[in-house]
Amino acid sequence: MGKTYKIAAIGGDGTGPEVLREGIKVLNAVAPKFGVKLEFTHFDFGGERYLKTGEVLPESAPDELRKFDAIYLGAIGHPDVKPGILEKGILLKLRFALDQYINLRPVKLYPGVDCPLKDKGPEQIDYVVVRENSGDLYTGTGGVTMKGTPHEVAVQAAVYSRFQVDRCLKFAFEYTRKRNRKKTLALCGKTNVLTFLYDLWERAFHEMGAKDYADITREYYHVDATCMWMVKNPEWFDVIVTGNMFGDIITDLGAITQGGMGIAAGGNINPEGVSMFECIGGSAPKYTGKNVINPLAQIASGQMMMEILGEEKMARKIEEAIMCVVARKLKSLAAGKMGYSTTEVGDLVAEHAAS
Ligand code: IPM
Ligand code: MN
Repeated sequence: MGKTYKIAAIGGDGTGPEVLREGIKVLNAVAPKFGVKLEFTHFDFGGERYLKTGEVLPESAPDELRKFDAIYLGAIGHPDVKPGILEKGILLKLRFALDQYINLRPVKLYPGVDCPLKDKGPEQIDYVVVRENSGDLYTGTGGVTMKGTPHEVAVQAAVYSRFQVDRCLKFAFEYTRKRNRKKTLALCGKTNVLTFLYDLWERAFHEMGAKDYADITREYYHVDATCMWMVKNPEWFDVIVTGNMFGDIITDLGAITQGGMGIAAGGNINPEGVSMFECIGGSAPKYTGKNVINPLAQIASGQMMMEILGEEKMARKIEEAIMCVVARKLKSLAAGKMGYSTTEVGDLVAEHAAS
């Protein structure tokens, strides 16, 4: 007997609902093959709802979402809403309320995809960034004084506790072991300047590695150098673990080396709770309703959702279908240049995945 999973679906803003529809299409097409049942419940959180009601997110939302096995999120960000309101009020709010302390972001170049890096191909670009997702500059620790005067002072602090660092490192070491490739975990930090913050990370990293993960090779790179090597020698990497802010930045760089936001998937993971899966790009409002946006990142997020739920075979099948469509059909991964519409790309992947 297969399992039934209850999934909360949040289309969100801009092209979010369009790509989510294709993600759900693919999941529904492939699930029966693996005896899996999926029940989707839709929520209207996003900019439209906020503009209509003045409420960013109902207070009951985190508790309601906790009842699901996973959350499948399109995108958050509306052109008529001031930047920060929806991002902080919905996306970050849910990440924090549901304690999704890992942001898992694979950087994998599929055959047939144009790569902006010279002489690099799928052999060289295949690693995963484990971005810490609960601390750092994202906690809102700080404040402003003398606002609006020439002496205005703004402070926004990067915050980490040993507890947060340890639980993230444990996930990263375990993930590296399970991935079973180069068995190399690289810590990306800035120990030469952030001598409190990344000193904590570095000590915790080596202590945990030496004690429990002798089979995993440990490496360390400063964040600036990490960016350089991600471009020059991406083949060095297997798994990278880093803080929230550096992780945000380096995963956009990673995404462009794997073909851009059209393909880059991510998961906000609470290994002990409810996780939320989303493409790492935004809501791309200018393409809204045009049926031209690439849904593959959303489909790949669905793949990750199934993997994290323990349906690894189903996840692999979705990935195979994505790879097939990318290699054989699409002209480009860019919106409007795929040679197919959003819905057609969804159809193609669903067809392959169900076959
Ligand atoms: C991301 C985004 C978010 C982040 C924004 C929208 C708050 O850039 O998921 O990478 O900074 O985490
Ligand atoms: Mn980002």
